[in-house]
Amino acid sequence: MPVEILSPREIERMRRAGQCAAATLREVGARLRVGVSTADIDRWVRADTAARGARPSQLGYRGFPAAVCTSRNAVVCHGIPSEAERLGDGDIVNVDVTSELDGFHGDTSMTFVIGEASPEARHVVEVARRCRDAGVAEVRDGARLGDVGAAIAALAAREGCGVVEAFGGHGIGRRMHMEPHVAHTGVRGAGLRLKAGMAITIEPMVTLGRPDIRQLDDGWTIVTADGRWTAQFEHTVLVTKGGCEVLTA
Ligand code: MF3
Ligand code: CO
Ligand code: CO
Repeated sequence: MPVEILSPREIERMRRAGQCAAATLREVGARLRVGVSTADIDRWVRADTAARGARPSQLGYRGFPAAVCTSRNAVVCHGIPSEAERLGDGDIVNVDVTSELDGFHGDTSMTFVIGEASPEARHVVEVARRCRDAGVAEVRDGARLGDVGAAIAALAAREGCGVVEAFGGHGIGRRMHMEPHVAHTGVRGAGLRLKAGMAITIEPMVTLGRPDIRQLDDGWTIVTADGRWTAQFEHTVLVTKGGCEVLTA
């Protein structure tokens, strides 16, 4: 299947979906503090998404039981919100919001630092953010997906961090997950050539230790195999002639 090229009208709808997801993430992020449960985050995402006339894309996706992924400390991604899980001083938590508005999806996440985190925890969060931004900076008409992955992997290696290879970004549009797969490692000059009008996500998962992962028995939660902490940031971007437009800014 070729990667879809969005029409100007579709792009306008992607802008609205991206802004919607970004606004929900911003609102929910502002409410995080010690003592909040990840189930609180799920309730806030449901309410804020509904107030914007949108639907949480993740709810029921392949049976996912919540509206948002909340991934704390050693959880890489796909953490399931729970009443029992409360944010503690020094924790880091990724909140991944995907919203469907008017038939199009926007997907964005940030890792938040709760209270006073250790220098190591703050390091992995900052490296993950910079890796996401380094990937975004490679995106333009004519660039290769390998350029995106190579830039991310080089920065993480320079900072002494790992990059998870088992999961990647993805095309996005009328569905949350579409082609192509966007690897966060790669070889410069290799891979799919990006074209103006494609929409993809860039969402590196960066680790303090080894990048190996395992899945918990709940069938969703992905954790680092070595138990060390991990962070992730995600944007949905539109490829343009000269670069890209971040749809979830
Ligand atoms: N928002 C996630 C992503 O960035 C999708 C998680 S799928 C779910 O691709 F089912 F776990 F929600
Ligand atoms: Co995504
Ligand atoms: Co996401």
